[in-house]
Amino acid sequence: MSIRTLDDLLAEGVSGRRVLVRADLNVPLDKQTGSITDDGRIRAVLPTLSALIGAGAKVTVCSHLGRPKGAPDPQFSLRSVAGRLGELLGAPVHFATDTVGDSARSTVDALGDGEVALLENLRFNAGETSKDEAERASFADQLAGFGEAYVDDAFGAVHRKHASVYDVPARLPHFAGRLVLREVEVLSTLTGEPERPYVVVLGGSKVSDKLAVIEALLPKVDRLLIGGGMCFTFLKAQGHEVGTSLLEEEMVETCRNLMERAPGKILLPVDVVAADAFSPDATHDTVRADGIPSHRLGLDIGPETVAGFAAALKGARTIFWNGPMGVFEMAPFAHGTRGVAEAIAGSGAFTVVGGGDSAAAVRALGLDESSFGHISTGGGASLEYLEGKTLPGIAALEN
Ligand code: 3PG
Ligand code: MG
Repeated sequence: MSIRTLDDLLAEGVSGRRVLVRADLNVPLDKQTGSITDDGRIRAVLPTLSALIGAGAKVTVCSHLGRPKGAPDPQFSLRSVAGRLGELLGAPVHFATDTVGDSARSTVDALGDGEVALLENLRFNAGETSKDEAERASFADQLAGFGEAYVDDAFGAVHRKHASVYDVPARLPHFAGRLVLREVEVLSTLTGEPERPYVVVLGGSKVSDKLAVIEALLPKVDRLLIGGGMCFTFLKAQGHEVGTSLLEEEMVETCRNLMERAPGKILLPVDVVAADAFSPDATHDTVRADGIPSHRLGLDIGPETVAGFAAALKGARTIFWNGPMGVFEMAPFAHGTRGVAEAIAGSGAFTVVGGGDSAAAVRALGLDESSFGHISTGGGASLEYLEGKTLPGIAALEN
């Protein structure tokens, strides 16, 4: 690997130079108020930005937010993110109301040394995500015009072959930011020779989303603990009825094969919290995992499962966790995720939390972030890294 890093750029000297930083400021927003519900991704990029500011660079930050369809859409504006970024940096962030238009050009031109601008959502432009190389290229040309150097600190987006991630680094001297470096350093220990026992905890709703990572991890791990919505497809594969729980019928056979391939390695819930509706007010009880009533759906793992998972985590030397154990956003179904998270935090192992929902759960449940070895900012990106896939954004930095 021949990736040049932020330190290499700083060593060249950046005072007065324009630096374009791709960040992943795709933070969750409250559906009603539009306010930021978890600013973890903003905080994660501060070390890179502070270093550039401190060295006197003129810093232009770009990011996507949500999945607008290639045109401006106010609900996905980065304006409030600019405000929060400014608070966290303790310095004003100049906000451009477009991405590569008049506002962006004048905002970038007006930057003084050590000042920061944030461009409006990259995905307000069809060129950002286009499959058409020429369309991406022309957007990338315009973006690249805002910097003399490019720093990628958007780990959460490195699995996307998008203009700002893949095409811009081909046009500018390019460097990996501190966050991208740290993520790659940590995740590469998991694909290499992690200390054993190595236990992986997977949750989340769909087996199909996690199948590739299960295939890649199964030969490497000592134990694979499965909770969340995806456990019901595994329980079905064991021959249990799962009521109205989430079920991917077409994955049942695949789950059966996985369990046959690694006998005893995969641990499933023995009890679940089953409710009569998907609602925080629904009537609910803890039931045996092989006795879910036909009119009920499982929304969390039960206390006996939490205890069993905790026992399997105790004594582990390496733990990777991705995906909540239940619908943690609803208080009655948050105990499983909390219990497993606490067992991971208290394990003494080197622990890695794979981004997205599990990282959000750690913060939403008020758990101490510093009790985990590393909390990734990448959901899809960290899974694809562990699958051993080539990530376009990393590949683009490698030459
Ligand atoms: C994420 O949240 O997974 C990253 O920001 C990438 O976003 P995307 O899945 O919309 O490409
Ligand atoms: Mg995603």
